[in-house]
Amino acid sequence: MANTLPPLSLYIHTPWCVRKCPYCDFNSHEPSPYEPSPYEPGSHGFTPRDLPEEAYLKALLQDLDGDLALAAGREIQTIFIGGGTPSLLSPVFYQRLLREIKARLPIADDAEITLEANPGTTEQERFIGYRNAGINRLSLGIQSFQPDQLYALGRIHSGNEAVAAVQQARQAGFTNINIDLMHGLPGQTPQLAMDDIEQALALAPEHLSWYQLTLEPNTAFHSSPPTLPEEEALWDIQDKGHQRLEQAGFERYEISAYATAHHQSRHNLNYWQFGDYLGIGAGAHGKLSHIDQNGQWCIERRWKTRQPDAYLKRFNDLRGFIAGKQLLTPDELPLEFAMNALRLTQGVTLDTWSANTGQSDVMLLERLQTADKKGLLMQMPEKLRASPQGLLFLNELLALICDD
Ligand SMILES: C[S@@+](CC[C@H](N)C(=O)[O-])C[C@H]1O[C@@H](n2cnc3c(N)ncnc32)[C@H](O)[C@@H]1O
Ligand code: SF4
Repeated sequence: MANTLPPLSLYIHTPWCVRKCPYCDFNSHEPSPYEPSPYEPGSHGFTPRDLPEEAYLKALLQDLDGDLALAAGREIQTIFIGGGTPSLLSPVFYQRLLREIKARLPIADDAEITLEANPGTTEQERFIGYRNAGINRLSLGIQSFQPDQLYALGRIHSGNEAVAAVQQARQAGFTNINIDLMHGLPGQTPQLAMDDIEQALALAPEHLSWYQLTLEPNTAFHSSPPTLPEEEALWDIQDKGHQRLEQAGFERYEISAYATAHHQSRHNLNYWQFGDYLGIGAGAHGKLSHIDQNGQWCIERRWKTRQPDAYLKRFNDLRGFIAGKQLLTPDELPLEFAMNALRLTQGVTLDTWSANTGQSDVMLLERLQTADKKGLLMQMPEKLRASPQGLLFLNELLALICDD
């Protein structure tokens, strides 16, 4: 097993959205009816006072205090504020939050600090405020620029508002911007998917996350599925989109992540490289490596109370915010490690396998032979690296490598 601790990140979850999108299984909620209504007639307008900012700030900090012992003496390399819709909370909220976090934990001078923002919930002033609060990377959830697809996805913004959001973010001084796009959407032809990519490229983002729409259990789309493009059109979209992005100077470094030079998401890379992270906020998950009282190396996963109202009620509760925790057992480590590492197009070296799973690479090599014969791997035997085919059939590859 590794004898040094991996890099440490911090994930902060914001659980509210103006409206729940029918495809989304993230922990995101329209605010409860007993909170003041977020809606103003004729607009999507949320105002900061509609959300319990003060209470959430206090809860997040108490939640972090509960995790500090596991992070003692370690420096935070990246922070990701995700959702939900973090841009519903005010710049002052983040100024105070980041200041208080710094008072509790060392943050690296060059830390990447990302905030997810939704078009339709922001304007230039807000972006300036976020920048001044110390946020240095924005991830804008655009999904599509086409009116029919945005409507089918239940989005609250138009394509023009999405373009305006990126422009305002630039004017506010952001030099590291990600755009989230989805493809394989209801009614989407390969041409419409390519139009989305062209419009995104015209905005010159440093990073692009390009996700194929999946119908997740417990979503409105799962119970009432929309008509999606045929299999052949989906392959066509994948192929053309991938080629166009590479031609535009984006490297695909993970299944759905494309970056220009030096702009890979450091936070997400830490997840995929099996790094550690604290997770605070409603439903947030954390993963922490540590040495226990018996001198044994352990990895603990912990997760926090999921429902925003229940989470807020845990403030000053002796139980704290943790909804559950689990120590990973040695036999769980190979799958946990591989399902992250194999998402990376460059894979990982074989010595990192032994370091992270405690298993010998001799044992692994036997299993890799079978996956290699099926064309699911590349660069055998130096690396654990999925082939393009392996990235498409990741579950099959994982089963070959990890199942007993
Ligand atoms: C945490 S989510 C949402 C971020 C932000 N609230 C938004 O909606 O713009 C991050 C990204 O995951 C992607 N996503 C969410 N649900 C998905 C699904 N069912 N299939 C594919 N991608 C999905 C979307 O691109 C989304 O922007
Ligand atoms: S806005 Fe984002 S987080 Fe909220 S429901 Fe839609 S996809 Fe999910």
